[in-house]
Amino acid sequence: MRIRFASLAPQTQALRAELDAAMSRVLDRAWYILGEEGEAFEREFAAYLGAGHAVGVANGTDAIQLALMAHGIGTGDEVILPANTCVPTAAGIAGSGATPVPADVCPDTLTLDPAEIARLATPRTRAVVAVHLYGHPCNMDALRAETEARGLLLIEDAAQAHGACYKGQPCGTLGDIAAFSFYPSKNLGALGDGGAVVANDAEVAERLRKLRHYGAEARYVHTLRGINSRLDELQAAVLRVKLPYLNAWNERRRALAARYDTGLAGLALRLPVEADWSTANRHLYPIRTPDRDALAAHLKEAGIGTLIHYPIPIHLQPAYKDCGQGSGSLPVAEQACNEALSLPLYPELPKSEQDEIIAAVLEYFERV
Ligand SMILES: Cc1ncc(COP(=O)(O)O)c(C=O)c1O
Repeated sequence: MRIRFASLAPQTQALRAELDAAMSRVLDRAWYILGEEGEAFEREFAAYLGAGHAVGVANGTDAIQLALMAHGIGTGDEVILPANTCVPTAAGIAGSGATPVPADVCPDTLTLDPAEIARLATPRTRAVVAVHLYGHPCNMDALRAETEARGLLLIEDAAQAHGACYKGQPCGTLGDIAAFSFYPSKNLGALGDGGAVVANDAEVAERLRKLRHYGAEARYVHTLRGINSRLDELQAAVLRVKLPYLNAWNERRRALAARYDTGLAGLALRLPVEADWSTANRHLYPIRTPDRDALAAHLKEAGIGTLIHYPIPIHLQPAYKDCGQGSGSLPVAEQACNEALSLPLYPELPKSEQDEIIAAVLEYFERV
Protein backbone atom coordinates (compact mmCIF):
# COMPACT_ATOMS: atom_id res chain seq x y z
CA MET A 1 0.00 0.00 0.00
CA ARG A 2 1.23 3.47 -0.85
CA ILE A 3 -0.51 4.82 2.26
CA ARG A 4 -0.32 2.20 4.97
CA PHE A 5 -3.03 1.68 7.55
CA ALA A 6 -0.42 2.26 10.24
CA SER A 7 3.32 2.45 10.53
CA LEU A 8 5.28 1.87 13.72
CA ALA A 9 8.58 2.92 12.14
CA PRO A 10 8.38 6.70 12.66
CA GLN A 11 7.79 6.36 16.41
CA THR A 12 10.57 3.81 16.82
CA GLN A 13 12.98 5.94 14.81
CA ALA A 14 12.16 9.11 16.75
CA LEU A 15 12.81 7.31 20.04
CA ARG A 16 15.65 5.12 18.79
CA ALA A 17 18.38 6.52 21.05
CA GLU A 18 16.18 6.33 24.16
CA LEU A 19 15.02 2.82 23.30
CA ASP A 20 18.58 1.64 22.66
CA ALA A 21 19.66 3.05 26.03
CA ALA A 22 16.75 1.44 27.86
CA MET A 23 17.34 -1.96 26.27
CA SER A 24 21.09 -1.73 26.91
CA ARG A 25 20.33 -1.06 30.56
CA VAL A 26 18.44 -4.36 30.71
CA LEU A 27 21.15 -6.25 28.84
CA ASP A 28 23.84 -4.84 31.14
CA ARG A 29 21.83 -5.89 34.17
CA ALA A 30 21.20 -9.31 32.61
CA TRP A 31 17.95 -9.77 34.54
CA TYR A 32 15.00 -10.42 32.25
CA ILE A 33 11.91 -11.46 34.19
CA LEU A 34 10.31 -9.79 37.24
CA GLY A 35 12.91 -7.16 38.03
CA GLU A 36 13.52 -3.45 38.48
CA GLU A 37 12.17 -2.30 35.12
CA GLY A 38 8.87 -4.10 35.57
CA GLU A 39 8.44 -2.74 39.08
CA ALA A 40 9.27 0.79 37.95
CA PHE A 41 6.88 0.60 35.01
CA GLU A 42 4.10 -0.71 37.25
CA ARG A 43 4.61 2.27 39.60
CA GLU A 44 4.79 4.76 36.73
CA PHE A 45 1.76 3.41 34.88
CA ALA A 46 -0.34 3.33 38.08
CA ALA A 47 0.74 6.93 38.82
CA TYR A 48 -0.11 8.02 35.26
CA LEU A 49 -3.62 6.63 35.68
CA GLY A 50 -4.01 7.69 39.29
CA ALA A 51 -4.70 4.05 40.17
CA GLY A 52 -3.66 2.10 43.25
CA HIS A 53 -1.78 -0.71 41.52
CA ALA A 54 -0.70 -1.89 38.09
CA VAL A 55 0.48 -5.47 37.63
CA GLY A 56 2.46 -6.18 34.46
CA VAL A 57 1.40 -9.31 32.57
CA ALA A 58 2.23 -10.93 29.25
CA ASN A 59 -0.62 -9.49 27.14
CA GLY A 60 -4.09 -7.97 27.26
CA THR A 61 -5.89 -11.29 26.85
CA ASP A 62 -4.19 -12.68 29.95
CA ALA A 63 -4.98 -9.42 31.76
CA ILE A 64 -8.71 -10.15 31.33
CA GLN A 65 -8.30 -13.78 32.35
CA LEU A 66 -6.26 -12.85 35.43
CA ALA A 67 -8.73 -10.12 36.47
CA LEU A 68 -11.43 -12.81 36.54
CA MET A 69 -9.22 -15.41 38.23
CA ALA A 70 -8.31 -12.90 40.94
CA HIS A 71 -12.01 -12.72 41.82
CA GLY A 72 -12.55 -16.47 41.77
CA ILE A 73 -14.56 -16.34 38.55
CA GLY A 74 -14.24 -19.37 36.29
CA THR A 75 -15.93 -22.60 35.27
CA GLY A 76 -19.71 -22.48 35.57
CA ASP A 77 -19.83 -18.66 35.67
CA GLU A 78 -21.09 -16.34 32.94
CA VAL A 79 -19.48 -13.06 31.92
CA ILE A 80 -21.24 -10.49 29.73
CA LEU A 81 -19.24 -8.70 27.02
CA PRO A 82 -20.09 -6.62 23.95
CA ALA A 83 -20.44 -8.66 20.76
CA ASN A 84 -18.67 -5.97 18.76
CA THR A 85 -15.16 -6.38 20.13
CA CYS A 86 -11.82 -7.92 19.37
CA VAL A 87 -11.94 -11.70 19.92
CA PRO A 88 -9.34 -11.60 22.74
CA THR A 89 -11.98 -10.08 25.04
CA ALA A 90 -13.89 -13.36 24.71
CA ALA A 91 -10.67 -15.42 24.75
CA GLY A 92 -9.66 -13.89 28.10
CA ILE A 93 -13.05 -14.77 29.58
CA ALA A 94 -12.92 -18.30 28.16
CA GLY A 95 -9.37 -18.67 29.46
CA SER A 96 -10.67 -18.29 33.01
CA GLY A 97 -13.09 -21.15 32.40
CA ALA A 98 -16.13 -18.83 32.41
CA THR A 99 -18.64 -18.62 29.55
CA PRO A 100 -18.62 -15.40 27.49
CA VAL A 101 -22.15 -14.03 26.95
CA PRO A 102 -22.18 -11.59 24.01
CA ALA A 103 -24.45 -8.54 24.33
CA ASP A 104 -25.55 -5.79 21.98
CA VAL A 105 -24.00 -2.32 21.83
CA CYS A 106 -25.24 1.28 21.67
CA PRO A 107 -25.84 2.50 18.11
CA ASP A 108 -23.84 5.72 18.54
CA THR A 109 -20.66 4.72 20.40
CA LEU A 110 -20.81 0.95 19.64
CA THR A 111 -19.90 0.28 23.28
CA LEU A 112 -21.80 -2.12 25.55
CA ASP A 113 -25.47 -1.17 25.93
CA PRO A 114 -26.11 -0.95 29.71
CA ALA A 115 -29.70 -2.18 29.20
CA GLU A 116 -28.32 -5.51 27.99
CA ILE A 117 -27.17 -6.42 31.50
CA ALA A 118 -30.77 -6.69 32.77
CA ARG A 119 -31.73 -8.68 29.68
CA LEU A 120 -28.86 -11.19 29.81
CA ALA A 121 -28.02 -11.59 33.51
CA THR A 122 -28.77 -15.02 34.99
CA PRO A 123 -28.04 -16.45 38.44
CA ARG A 124 -24.71 -17.62 36.98
CA THR A 125 -23.60 -14.17 35.81
CA ARG A 126 -20.62 -12.92 37.84
CA ALA A 127 -19.05 -10.12 35.81
CA VAL A 128 -19.37 -7.65 32.95
CA VAL A 129 -16.47 -6.71 30.70
CA ALA A 130 -16.93 -3.18 29.36
CA VAL A 131 -14.76 -2.55 26.30
CA HIS A 132 -13.75 1.07 25.66
CA LEU A 133 -13.92 0.33 21.95
CA TYR A 134 -11.79 2.40 19.56
CA GLY A 135 -10.57 4.35 22.62
CA HIS A 136 -14.01 5.79 23.35
CA PRO A 137 -15.12 5.30 26.97
CA CYS A 138 -18.27 3.29 27.72
CA ASN A 139 -21.22 4.82 29.53
CA MET A 140 -19.68 3.93 32.87
CA ASP A 141 -22.24 5.48 35.25
CA ALA A 142 -25.03 3.48 33.65
CA LEU A 143 -22.95 0.28 33.57
CA ARG A 144 -21.94 0.78 37.19
CA ALA A 145 -25.58 1.18 38.23
CA GLU A 146 -26.50 -2.09 36.50
CA THR A 147 -23.57 -4.10 37.88
CA GLU A 148 -23.91 -2.74 41.42
CA ALA A 149 -27.61 -3.53 41.48
CA ARG A 150 -26.75 -7.18 40.74
CA GLY A 151 -23.50 -7.57 42.67
CA LEU A 152 -21.50 -8.12 39.47
CA LEU A 153 -17.82 -7.36 38.99
CA LEU A 154 -17.26 -4.53 36.47
CA ILE A 155 -14.09 -5.11 34.43
CA GLU A 156 -12.84 -2.49 31.99
CA ASP A 157 -11.22 -3.80 28.84
CA ALA A 158 -8.99 -0.76 28.33
CA ALA A 159 -6.80 -2.44 25.70
CA GLN A 160 -7.63 0.39 23.28
CA ALA A 161 -8.08 3.17 25.83
CA HIS A 162 -4.69 4.29 27.18
CA GLY A 163 -5.12 7.91 28.21
CA ALA A 164 -8.80 8.13 27.24
CA CYS A 165 -11.02 9.71 29.90
CA TYR A 166 -14.62 9.43 31.07
CA LYS A 167 -15.83 12.69 32.62
CA GLY A 168 -12.17 13.63 33.04
CA GLN A 169 -11.21 10.37 34.81
CA PRO A 170 -8.85 7.95 33.06
CA CYS A 171 -10.18 4.72 31.60
CA GLY A 172 -8.74 1.93 33.69
CA THR A 173 -9.81 3.57 36.97
CA LEU A 174 -13.57 3.52 36.44
CA GLY A 175 -14.61 -0.06 37.16
CA ASP A 176 -13.57 -2.62 39.78
CA ILE A 177 -10.52 -3.70 37.80
CA ALA A 178 -9.09 -3.03 34.33
CA ALA A 179 -7.12 -4.83 31.64
CA PHE A 180 -4.64 -3.12 29.31
CA SER A 181 -2.78 -4.42 26.27
CA PHE A 182 0.55 -3.05 25.09
CA TYR A 183 0.43 -4.79 21.71
CA PRO A 184 2.74 -2.76 19.43
CA SER A 185 -0.02 -0.90 17.55
CA LYS A 186 -1.84 0.26 20.69
CA ASN A 187 -1.66 3.92 21.73
CA LEU A 188 0.98 2.77 24.24
CA GLY A 189 2.70 -0.16 22.56
CA ALA A 190 5.65 -2.37 23.47
CA LEU A 191 8.06 -3.88 20.95
CA GLY A 192 6.33 -7.21 21.39
CA ASP A 193 3.53 -8.45 23.60
CA GLY A 194 2.68 -6.88 26.94
CA GLY A 195 -0.24 -6.09 29.21
CA ALA A 196 -1.26 -4.90 32.66
CA VAL A 197 -4.05 -5.39 35.16
CA VAL A 198 -4.94 -2.24 37.08
CA ALA A 199 -6.69 -2.39 40.45
CA ASN A 200 -7.15 -0.16 43.46
CA ASP A 201 -7.49 -2.97 45.96
CA ALA A 202 -4.10 -3.97 47.41
CA GLU A 203 -5.24 -7.52 48.19
CA VAL A 204 -6.45 -8.05 44.64
CA ALA A 205 -3.13 -6.71 43.32
CA GLU A 206 -1.26 -9.11 45.59
CA ARG A 207 -3.34 -12.02 44.29
CA LEU A 208 -2.65 -10.94 40.72
CA ARG A 209 1.10 -10.90 41.39
CA LYS A 210 0.88 -14.50 42.54
CA LEU A 211 -1.50 -15.63 39.79
CA ARG A 212 0.73 -14.30 37.00
CA HIS A 213 3.69 -16.23 38.46
CA TYR A 214 2.33 -19.80 38.80
CA GLY A 215 0.48 -18.81 41.97
CA ALA A 216 3.75 -18.53 43.88
CA GLU A 217 3.72 -17.06 47.39
CA ALA A 218 7.46 -17.57 47.68
CA ARG A 219 9.96 -19.54 45.64
CA TYR A 220 8.62 -23.11 45.23
CA VAL A 221 5.62 -22.38 47.45
CA HIS A 222 2.39 -22.14 45.44
CA THR A 223 -0.70 -21.03 47.30
CA LEU A 224 -2.84 -20.43 44.19
CA ARG A 225 -3.27 -22.23 40.88
CA GLY A 226 -1.78 -19.59 38.65
CA ILE A 227 -0.41 -19.26 35.16
CA ASN A 228 2.79 -17.90 33.60
CA SER A 229 2.02 -14.38 32.40
CA ARG A 230 4.63 -11.74 33.14
CA LEU A 231 5.64 -8.49 31.47
CA ASP A 232 9.33 -9.02 30.70
CA GLU A 233 12.06 -6.53 31.61
CA LEU A 234 12.85 -5.51 28.02
CA GLN A 235 9.23 -4.64 27.28
CA ALA A 236 8.86 -2.83 30.60
CA ALA A 237 11.96 -0.75 29.81
CA VAL A 238 10.52 0.11 26.38
CA LEU A 239 7.18 1.09 27.89
CA ARG A 240 8.94 3.35 30.42
CA VAL A 241 10.50 5.24 27.50
CA LYS A 242 7.16 5.62 25.74
CA LEU A 243 4.78 6.43 28.60
CA PRO A 244 5.85 10.11 28.94
CA TYR A 245 4.89 10.67 25.28
CA LEU A 246 1.45 9.07 25.47
CA ASN A 247 -0.57 12.24 26.09
CA ALA A 248 1.13 14.11 23.23
CA TRP A 249 0.55 11.17 20.86
CA ASN A 250 -3.11 11.05 21.88
CA GLU A 251 -3.41 14.79 21.20
CA ARG A 252 -2.00 14.26 17.72
CA ARG A 253 -4.51 11.48 17.12
CA ARG A 254 -7.33 13.76 18.28
CA ALA A 255 -6.17 16.52 15.96
CA LEU A 256 -6.04 14.12 13.00
CA ALA A 257 -9.47 12.73 13.89
CA ALA A 258 -10.82 16.29 13.93
CA ARG A 259 -9.37 16.79 10.42
CA TYR A 260 -11.25 13.66 9.26
CA ASP A 261 -14.42 14.95 10.97
CA THR A 262 -14.20 18.18 8.97
CA GLY A 263 -12.99 16.69 5.70
CA LEU A 264 -15.65 13.97 5.59
CA ALA A 265 -18.59 15.98 6.92
CA GLY A 266 -21.77 15.87 4.87
CA LEU A 267 -21.13 12.53 3.13
CA ALA A 268 -23.47 9.55 3.33
CA LEU A 269 -21.30 8.14 6.11
CA ARG A 270 -21.55 7.75 9.86
CA LEU A 271 -18.48 9.33 11.40
CA PRO A 272 -17.35 8.24 14.87
CA VAL A 273 -19.17 10.31 17.49
CA GLU A 274 -17.87 11.46 20.84
CA ALA A 275 -20.33 11.29 23.73
CA ASP A 276 -20.43 14.30 26.04
CA TRP A 277 -18.68 12.28 28.79
CA SER A 278 -15.78 11.32 26.56
CA THR A 279 -12.23 12.38 25.86
CA ALA A 280 -11.45 9.62 23.39
CA ASN A 281 -7.86 8.70 22.60
CA ARG A 282 -8.81 8.00 18.98
CA HIS A 283 -7.12 4.61 18.88
CA LEU A 284 -9.07 4.01 15.67
CA TYR A 285 -11.16 6.11 13.28
CA PRO A 286 -13.97 3.86 12.06
CA ILE A 287 -16.47 5.30 9.60
CA ARG A 288 -19.69 3.43 8.84
CA THR A 289 -21.49 2.90 5.55
CA PRO A 290 -23.60 0.10 4.05
CA ASP A 291 -21.24 0.47 1.06
CA ARG A 292 -18.28 -0.52 3.20
CA ASP A 293 -16.83 -3.23 0.97
CA ALA A 294 -17.04 -1.12 -2.20
CA LEU A 295 -15.49 1.86 -0.44
CA ALA A 296 -12.66 -0.32 0.93
CA ALA A 297 -12.03 -1.67 -2.59
CA HIS A 298 -11.95 1.89 -3.97
CA LEU A 299 -9.43 2.97 -1.33
CA LYS A 300 -7.33 -0.13 -1.95
CA GLU A 301 -7.23 0.71 -5.64
CA ALA A 302 -6.04 4.19 -4.67
CA GLY A 303 -3.24 2.53 -2.65
CA ILE A 304 -4.76 3.27 0.76
CA GLY A 305 -4.79 0.62 3.48
CA THR A 306 -7.88 0.17 5.65
CA LEU A 307 -8.96 -2.43 8.21
CA ILE A 308 -12.27 -3.62 9.62
CA HIS A 309 -12.80 -3.52 13.38
CA TYR A 310 -14.48 -6.02 13.49
CA PRO A 311 -15.92 -8.01 10.59
CA ILE A 312 -17.54 -10.83 12.65
CA PRO A 313 -19.23 -10.32 16.01
CA ILE A 314 -18.31 -12.68 18.83
CA HIS A 315 -21.59 -14.63 18.75
CA LEU A 316 -21.10 -15.46 15.06
CA GLN A 317 -17.45 -16.56 15.42
CA PRO A 318 -17.21 -20.32 14.89
CA ALA A 319 -15.36 -20.75 18.21
CA TYR A 320 -17.98 -18.83 20.24
CA LYS A 321 -21.20 -19.72 18.43
CA ASP A 322 -22.46 -21.77 21.36
CA CYS A 323 -22.25 -18.67 23.61
CA GLY A 324 -24.82 -16.62 21.67
CA GLN A 325 -28.13 -16.88 19.93
CA GLY A 326 -27.21 -16.77 16.28
CA SER A 327 -27.54 -14.33 13.44
CA GLY A 328 -30.03 -11.49 14.00
CA SER A 329 -29.94 -11.76 17.81
CA LEU A 330 -27.67 -8.73 18.37
CA PRO A 331 -28.67 -6.41 15.50
CA VAL A 332 -26.69 -3.28 16.36
CA ALA A 333 -23.40 -5.15 16.72
CA GLU A 334 -24.10 -7.15 13.57
CA GLN A 335 -24.83 -4.02 11.55
CA ALA A 336 -21.64 -2.38 12.86
CA CYS A 337 -19.64 -5.42 11.72
CA ASN A 338 -21.15 -5.06 8.24
CA GLU A 339 -20.58 -1.31 7.97
CA ALA A 340 -17.44 -0.28 9.89
CA LEU A 341 -14.24 0.64 8.08
CA SER A 342 -11.21 2.06 9.89
CA LEU A 343 -9.21 4.72 8.06
CA PRO A 344 -5.48 5.16 8.72
CA LEU A 345 -4.86 7.04 11.97
CA TYR A 346 -1.65 7.10 13.97
CA PRO A 347 0.19 10.03 15.55
CA GLU A 348 2.79 10.38 12.79
CA LEU A 349 0.34 10.05 9.86
CA PRO A 350 1.49 12.84 7.50
CA LYS A 351 -1.23 15.43 6.87
CA SER A 352 -0.49 15.17 3.15
CA GLU A 353 -1.38 11.46 3.27
CA GLN A 354 -4.49 12.19 5.29
CA ASP A 355 -5.54 14.75 2.68
CA GLU A 356 -5.16 12.06 0.01
CA ILE A 357 -7.29 9.66 2.05
CA ILE A 358 -10.01 12.29 2.48
CA ALA A 359 -9.88 13.11 -1.24
CA ALA A 360 -10.21 9.42 -2.16
CA VAL A 361 -13.27 9.01 0.09
CA LEU A 362 -14.82 12.16 -1.41
CA GLU A 363 -14.10 10.83 -4.88
CA TYR A 364 -15.90 7.57 -4.07
CA PHE A 365 -19.04 9.39 -3.00
CA GLU A 366 -18.94 11.68 -6.05
CA ARG A 367 -18.92 8.60 -8.24
CA VAL A 368 -21.79 6.70 -6.65
C1 LIG B 1 -10.44 -4.65 22.90
C2 LIG B 1 -9.26 -5.56 23.08
N1 LIG B 1 -9.25 -6.43 24.10
C3 LIG B 1 -8.22 -7.25 24.31
C4 LIG B 1 -7.12 -7.24 23.50
C5 LIG B 1 -6.04 -8.26 23.74
O1 LIG B 1 -4.79 -7.76 23.87
P1 LIG B 1 -3.50 -8.65 23.49
O2 LIG B 1 -3.41 -8.70 22.02
O3 LIG B 1 -2.38 -7.90 24.15
O4 LIG B 1 -3.71 -9.98 24.12
C6 LIG B 1 -7.06 -6.35 22.42
C7 LIG B 1 -5.90 -6.24 21.52
O5 LIG B 1 -5.54 -7.06 20.76
C8 LIG B 1 -8.17 -5.48 22.20
O6 LIG B 1 -8.18 -4.62 21.18
